[in-house]
Amino acid sequence: MRSESGGSGEAGATWALLVAAGAGERLEIDRPKAFASLGGRPLLAESLYRLDRSPWVDAIVVAAPVGWEEPAILLTEELAATKVVSCVTGGAARADSVRAAFEDVLDDALVVLVHDAARPLVDDAVIERVLAPLAEGYDGVVPALPIPDTVKRVDRGVVLETVSREDLVGAQTPQAFLAPALRRAFGRDLSEATDCASLIERAGGRVAVVEGDPRLLKVTTPADLALVEALLASS
Ligand code: C5P
Repeated sequence: MRSESGGSGEAGATWALLVAAGAGERLEIDRPKAFASLGGRPLLAESLYRLDRSPWVDAIVVAAPVGWEEPAILLTEELAATKVVSCVTGGAARADSVRAAFEDVLDDALVVLVHDAARPLVDDAVIERVLAPLAEGYDGVVPALPIPDTVKRVDRGVVLETVSREDLVGAQTPQAFLAPALRRAFGRDLSEATDCASLIERAGGRVAVVEGDPRLLKVTTPADLALVEALLASS
């Protein structure tokens, strides 16, 4: 299903794909994660509002959970999110949801940002950081943070080895891509793609890393939701 939003539908150079179609079972609520309550409104509202008001973003496509396309459109109307071009139905895996949203991106798009609705606190500073390397010959850019914990490879409850974390980082979103590079990457096998950057890497593209933001934590558990609420209240 594909639903036009009330947005202007005008295209631009930079598109944002906001993927919100995950079930979020670990939240243990009666609705998909994107519609969990965050400060009294759906989780999806926060990132949608922020992307819509960002001067770096020209157009937005939302990938909504199956059966939640209309509530997603109503939300864009409530937020007066006029950059939203459409709300599409997400797929079984995250990469399928990104692909479904990408189908609505016009051919003349230059840059595509892919963002998890589960990371509500996206801001212009990180968007600016991920866009910059695209002008320097990179196909994709990920924001990332060092991994604070000791990392171990395990097998059935037994530690096999301790992995050096010196050259390891945790990747976040928004991730930025040259639109043609992402288009080529989506022509390939999507299985095991936990993020879009990995598709570009597999296709031989160059992916840069920039500084992420601790506030971009991904909501997975009720405790994460409470933490994001507290961060919102203190900002
Ligand atoms: O499941 P997880 O929290 O890792 O998902 C990251 C983001 O990808 C979330 O915003 C979620 O809504 C989205 N997603 C999706 N379609 C899926 C699975 C996840 O849009 N099938």
